[in-house]
Amino acid sequence: MTNNIRLGVNIDHVATLRNARGGIHPEITLAAKIAENAGADLITVHVREDRRHVNEDDLKSILDVINIPLNLEIAANPEMIAIANKYKPHSVCFVPENRKEITTEGGLDVLKNFEKLRSLLKNISSNDIKVSFFIDPDKEQLFATRDLGIKIIELHTGSYAHAVTKKMDIELELTKIQDAVRLADNFNINCHAGHGLNYDNVSLIASIPNIKELNIGHFLIGDAIFNGLQNSILKMKKIIKEAI
Ligand code: PXP
Repeated sequence: MTNNIRLGVNIDHVATLRNARGGIHPEITLAAKIAENAGADLITVHVREDRRHVNEDDLKSILDVINIPLNLEIAANPEMIAIANKYKPHSVCFVPENRKEITTEGGLDVLKNFEKLRSLLKNISSNDIKVSFFIDPDKEQLFATRDLGIKIIELHTGSYAHAVTKKMDIELELTKIQDAVRLADNFNINCHAGHGLNYDNVSLIASIPNIKELNIGHFLIGDAIFNGLQNSILKMKKIIKEAI
């Protein structure tokens, strides 16, 4: 038996490196094609308000070259929804965004932003775009997500990943994720997961039944510096496949 979880490869940090110098190198479309050829099931990018990595031109050129779905991570605001409506990616994952953060540090606070999210969701013009919320593995957030009619969540695995690295309470963080997946399953909500995943910590997440997709970026792009993007993705795919 093998595990068929989809792997979304987040290539934001190819653009981060390019932007450090300006110009076109390293080319984001080349990264997208290499990822696709190595077996990525999706390409994931996060267009941030400050465009610190990928921008709209990147989004357009990636969509032009890939033959696999594109998963667009965006903040929940009208500007970003307009971008989603214009480019119509396969899926949109709403994430919280704070200009000062280095990366997405926590899940979307669906409870606190319930009414705002409800009205923003009405602005998504195409029913063909799959919508997910990036949330912490928290029961209350899941209830609120269900109440908004959202059918896909991506669980933030950052606390779990942090626990593995720092040898903290891994069991505790893992149990939160397992419980959230079970609850989501009861609500017929599909589960994805991501953030901070690497070769060492991905198996325990990939072996949770009913997780359908993992989105991994920073580690893969970092590892690619030493081993090549194709090899890094092939290795990650193999670990995920064997995690049962
Ligand atoms: N999923 C979401 C929603 C994210 O915001 C991020 C970070 O951009 C990731 C997955 C990937 O996290 P990492 O880069 O730590 O693998």
